[in-house]
Amino acid sequence: MTRKISLSGVKPTGTLHLGNYLGMIRPALELAREYTSLYFIADYHALTTVHNGDDMRRMSYEITAAFLALGMDPGETIFFRQSDVPELFELTWILECFTPKGLMNRAHAYKSAMDANLAEERDPDAGINMGLYTYPVLMSADILLYGSHAVPVGQDQRQHVEIARDIAQAFNNNYGEVFVLPEAVIQKEVATIPGIDGRKMSKSYDNLLPIFAPAGKLRKRVMRVVTDSRPPEEPKNPDECNVFNIFKHFGAPEEIQAMRELYQRGGFGYGEVKQRLYETLERTFGQAREKYEALMNDLPVLEEILLDGSRRARKMGAPIMEKARKAIGVRYQR
Ligand code: ADP
Ligand code: TRP
Repeated sequence: MTRKISLSGVKPTGTLHLGNYLGMIRPALELAREYTSLYFIADYHALTTVHNGDDMRRMSYEITAAFLALGMDPGETIFFRQSDVPELFELTWILECFTPKGLMNRAHAYKSAMDANLAEERDPDAGINMGLYTYPVLMSADILLYGSHAVPVGQDQRQHVEIARDIAQAFNNNYGEVFVLPEAVIQKEVATIPGIDGRKMSKSYDNLLPIFAPAGKLRKRVMRVVTDSRPPEEPKNPDECNVFNIFKHFGAPEEIQAMRELYQRGGFGYGEVKQRLYETLERTFGQAREKYEALMNDLPVLEEILLDGSRRARKMGAPIMEKARKAIGVRYQR
């Protein structure tokens, strides 16, 4: 039996954080053990907002180094840059012709940019480029080109995967089974990780805990996690505390239980549990950080992995592209 395919992408748009790690990177690396896995740097998605070539290049290498440092085996996983697969753009156009415009009007990234304009009494489309508007079609092409079954992502990407499925269905209804219908894989417990201010951890807010910050900086950020002002002796509900809600994803089961009981008993200061969170993160990521730094000093190695990945990705996509071209009645390779 051939193995199922898992695929996901990350935009090179800023510092990788624990939300990215728990919501996407860790589940993706877990799936890679059972699935044929393709993971990539979504640089053309990032182009909707990143308009500086040096930033794009550096952040693309950072993501590659991060996946490797966190345990990805590049011999198994096909890891590549989205922009190194030209067939993607051919497929994007084909899919656009099967995408109802109304579906794009409802896509959340476009909608929230438009709502923000309306709230500020600006033109609804002010500052919105067509890349942002058609973003979900490019993402659908990413997913459909390789016959992906499973797409590990955080909750905020669910709608995009559903759009890919809708477009695939519209195409298949017309031509027969060309595309595999993908499914988002979203682990409930890590669907939306809170940031240090309690809102969703995101590059867009200044609330993230970086995966690879130097120990001193990480500790400072952890100490800034927002907590309530109840006195130390009072019992507390751990599930309402940001410190616990991050800690519970990293501590060993008995440590999590002990921390839960500590909250329920009371008699501790937040500084103490923050220190424990910091130590746990340091234990989890300390070694990976060293590896990450070494990799960032060896860019040719990263480049080689990316080139090898794109060769393998193109090979996987070729038969599906051929099927799609044949279905729509344009030139195809025999
Ligand atoms: P950001 O929101 O910081 O800009 P991205 O949109 O680049 O992050 O997300 C990259 C991946 O990480 C996506 O699969 C996304 O769903 C996941 N992700 C981002 N933030 C979180 C979070 N706070 N909790 C869970 N998953 C997240
Ligand atoms: N849109 C995704 C994000 O913002 C990144 C992405 C691009 C992606 N193409 C993809 C994720 C295909 C999964 C599958 O995080």
